Parts: sequence; structure tokens; C-alpha cells
Amino acid sequence: MSFPDIRPRRLRTTPALRRLVEETRVAPAQLILPMFVKEGLTAPRPISSMPGVVQHSRDSLRKAVVEAVQAGVGGVMLFGVPETRDETGSGGLDPDGILNVALRDVRAEVGDATVIMSDVCLDEFTSHGHCGLLAPDGTVDNDATLEAYARMAVAQADAGAHVLGPSGMMDGQVGAIRAALDAAGHTDRSILAYAVKYASSFYGPFREAVESALDGDRRTYQQNPANLRESMREVALDVAEGADMVMVKPALPYLDVITRVAGTVDVPVAAYQISGEYAMVEAAAANGWINREAAILETLTSIHRAGAQLILTYWAVEAATLLRARY
Ligand code: PBG
Repeated sequence: MSFPDIRPRRLRTTPALRRLVEETRVAPAQLILPMFVKEGLTAPRPISSMPGVVQHSRDSLRKAVVEAVQAGVGGVMLFGVPETRDETGSGGLDPDGILNVALRDVRAEVGDATVIMSDVCLDEFTSHGHCGLLAPDGTVDNDATLEAYARMAVAQADAGAHVLGPSGMMDGQVGAIRAALDAAGHTDRSILAYAVKYASSFYGPFREAVESALDGDRRTYQQNPANLRESMREVALDVAEGADMVMVKPALPYLDVITRVAGTVDVPVAAYQISGEYAMVEAAAANGWINREAAILETLTSIHRAGAQLILTYWAVEAATLLRARY
């Protein structure tokens, strides 16, 4: 017998064979596009650390959501950037605040044609940039923040959000939001819990996108990147509190976490390919160091292969188009 007698390369011989045995495919409907809308803008404004991503005006947001629907993406996740901020982040709770106004615009424009999600977090609206309310000693007050999140979630549901995405990493946030939504008659609105959220250095470009006022870090509420067991605990708590879906964030540096979460719970698992992950690929590609489109699809495939059914990605529209051409 000749050596080697087992030859895995046989199944890689032609493109048709490789396609036949491909194990993981990402579909456009699994992709969710995060979008920024800034109060007072009359035209979209580029975000320098995220080439290709903009802060939208209300008008350009509506048009971009229609394009995303036409591209077949599974959903959009909206973030608001207010003109002014205050200590309590009141612009996030105000029905006339930019995020709620934009939700109403988008829901009126596309109805139920896509899934409209919104960020339930105070950091874009507070003058100190923290995700919660501050106690007199300057620490983030967990329980006072829960009341604000509950009101914020109801305002977003009233404005038309199908799915609420609490991202502030306060203990009990899912339960508080679920109770408030139910009490307000929004029993049909889902919660996509940012169950696992690490204190990551890869959020940098997002902080430019939302003009974050934060001076310091979020390590008293976001998780230590070194921890995995802690994530299992966070996920179990969020599911017990009523999370309909759970998310891991960031994505690519945490594929092991995605795999563990997907193997542990029976709700849909999402992963957020965050701003810094986007910026790294764009920067390397702009220098001619990597093939941009191949790198985009490779990262999305890897995140899906790890176990994420849904992926939030700033490339959602472009990736949907690339994927449609491929399959
Ligand atoms: C909090 C929030 C953040 C992101 C999504 N929701 C910022 C943070 O926690 O600092 C980051 C997303 C990204 O980096 O793309 N509202």
C-alpha cells in the first residue's frame, strides 16, 4: 500500500468539491447592522476610525435602513448620539430623545420588514460617559440604574423597537427590563441580553462613533478578559431573568466563550463583532496587507462556526451582498 493512505486533500481538489463539503455558511438573515444616529445632523458624518461607517442624520438613517432591508440583513441595532448630555442621561429616557425619535422613524419606514433593535444603555446620554447613574461617591449605582434602564426600555418599545438590547452590564438588568416591559403591555417585545461583555480595548472606535465622554474605564461592570467561568454565570442569570437571546461581545478574541455559551444554553446566541475588530481589518486592508473581502467573510464564518447564530457586524450590508453572490 502506498503512503499516505488517508488523503484529506482529495476533498479539496476542485472548487465544486470544496463547496460540497463546506460545513459552515453564513446567511444574510443572520447579520445585524449596528447604526448610529446623531441629533441635529443634516447629512451623514464619517467616523474616522471606522472607514465606511457614519453617524446618520434622521433622514439618512431611514434610507440606510431601507437599503439594509433590501440587502436582506436580519436586523438593525440603533445607537443614539445626543446633542447634549447630563448627569442622569435623561435624553435616553425622553420619548423625544434622538434614539426614540429615530426608532419611530425607522419603524414607520420599514414596519416589520426587518427586526428593529435598540441599545438600552446610558453611556451615550450621560455627561460622565458611564453606562449607569453615579452615586454621590462617584461609583456606578447598580440599583438606581436599573430603574432608569426600565424606563428607557419602555420608551424604546413605545417607539417601536422589536428587540431591546441592554448593554450596560448592571446586575439584574434583564429582570428589571422584562418586568417593566410586561407592566407596560409590551409582553411581545424580546430582550437580546448583552450577557457576556468584556472590558475590551477594542471598543475604541465606537467611543469615537458615539463621542463618548468617558474618562476612565468600565472595569467595575464589564468583565475581565481573563475570565470564562464568570461568563457562564452571567449567561445563566440572564436566561433565568428572561433573556430571549444572549450575546457575547467582542467576538473574534472570544470565540472560545461563544462556543461554551452556545453549548450551555438553548436560547439563540449572538456575537457582536465590535468596532475595533472592524477597524483592524479595514486598517490592514487599506495598507494592502490583507485581502479585505476575504478577511471579512473569514471572520464572519469563524464567529458562526464557533456557535453564534446571529452576528452584529458593521459589514452586514456588504457581507450580505458578498454572501448572496457566493451561494
Ligand atoms: C454601550 C455599548 C458599547 C458598545 C455597544 N454598546 C460601548 C462600550 O461598552 O464601551 C461597543 C460596540 C462596538 O465597539 O462596536 N452602550
